[in-house]
Amino acid sequence: MRSIIWSNNCLTLLNQTLLPAKLEYIECHDWQRVAEAIRRLEVRGAPAIGAAAAFALVLGAGKLTELAMPEFKEKVTQIANILRQTRPTAVNLFWAINRMLTVLDQMAGNTDSNAAITALEQAAIAIAEQDKAVNEKMAVHGASLFTKPTAVLTHCNAGALATVAIGTALGVVCKAWEQGNITQVFADETRPLLQGARLTAWELMQAGIPVTLITDNMAGWIMKNNMVQAVIVGADRIALNGDVANKIGTYSVAVLAKEHGIPFYVAAPSSTFDFTIHSGADIPIEERCATEVTSLGGNCVAPQGVNVFNPAFDVTPNNLVAAIITEYGILRTPYNQAINQLVQECN
Ligand code: MRU
Repeated sequence: MRSIIWSNNCLTLLNQTLLPAKLEYIECHDWQRVAEAIRRLEVRGAPAIGAAAAFALVLGAGKLTELAMPEFKEKVTQIANILRQTRPTAVNLFWAINRMLTVLDQMAGNTDSNAAITALEQAAIAIAEQDKAVNEKMAVHGASLFTKPTAVLTHCNAGALATVAIGTALGVVCKAWEQGNITQVFADETRPLLQGARLTAWELMQAGIPVTLITDNMAGWIMKNNMVQAVIVGADRIALNGDVANKIGTYSVAVLAKEHGIPFYVAAPSSTFDFTIHSGADIPIEERCATEVTSLGGNCVAPQGVNVFNPAFDVTPNNLVAAIITEYGILRTPYNQAINQLVQECN
C-alpha cells in the first residue's frame, strides 16, 4: 500500500479521506489538483505533504515549457507560493518546496526550461526516495528503545499513509514488532478527523500488528491501569528547543504519560525540524473549519450556530518528551544541544 506514486507525469494519491471504507486513488495531472488534495487532507501527514508538494511543482513546471528561463522561474515560484499556503503547520511542506526552489536557482543560468523541468523531477524523486531511506533508519534507531515486550499508545497517524514509505512512529512500531518487542498498539481515534481510527487502526491491521482502538478520552485510564508502557507519535514541526507540534490531542497524551511515568517518544525525520525557530511558541497552528467538529460521519452532532474552536495541532513542550528519534539517531535532553548537533549533521 503506497500513499504517493509518481509515474509518467502523473501523481497518484491514495485518497485518505475515504479510508477505510474505500480504497480509491486520485490521479493528479496538474499542480492545482495536488494543492486541493493537500488542503482537503486527501494526502496528509508531514512527510507525505512535502513529497506531494514537490511533485506538484514538477507538474506545474511541466506546463510552462514555452517560457524562457526568467519567466519560467517566476511562474514556478508563484506556484510554490500558493502551495506554501495549503497547510501552515507541517514544516516538511516548506522544506520540500525550498529544496525544489534551490534546484531551480541552480538552473537559472540555463536558458532551457526543459532542462530545469528534468532537474526538478529528479529533485522531487530524490525527496521521495530520501523519505524511504530515512524511514528505515528511524525504524532501526527507534526500535532500539524497545528492549522488552511493550504495549504502546499512539495518536493520529504517523505510518505509511503519512509518508512515502513505512512511516515515522509506526515505522518504529513495525520494526520493534518484528523484533518481538511490541505486544500491542493502542490507537487513539484522534478527533475530529479520526486519523487514528480510520488510518492507524487500518494500517496496523493490514500489517498484522495487534491494535486496540480507543477514544481519545480513554488514554488516561489505559495508563492508570498499566495497560501501556510507552507512547510514540510523529511530528509536524519541531523547534530548536525540542518543542514538538503534532496532531491536536498529542499534548494531552504527553501530560498523561508524564503523570504515569511512561516515556513519551517522538519519531521525526530531520526535515520536520524547523531550525529557524527557537521554541514551539513560534509554530503556526492550523485552524480548520467548524464543521469538522460539529459533525461526525456526515451527521450533525452539535447545535446549529454553536461557537467552535478547531486547532488541528498542539505543541508538546520539550520537558515532556523522553526522546526524539531521527534518522541520525536518538536525541535526548538538553534538546538545544542535541538539535544544534543535528543542524551540523544536516549541513
Ligand atoms: O492533519 P494531519 O492528518 O496531516 O496530521 C498529521 C499528524 O499530525 C501526524 O502525526 C504527523 O504529520 C506525523 S506524520 C509521519
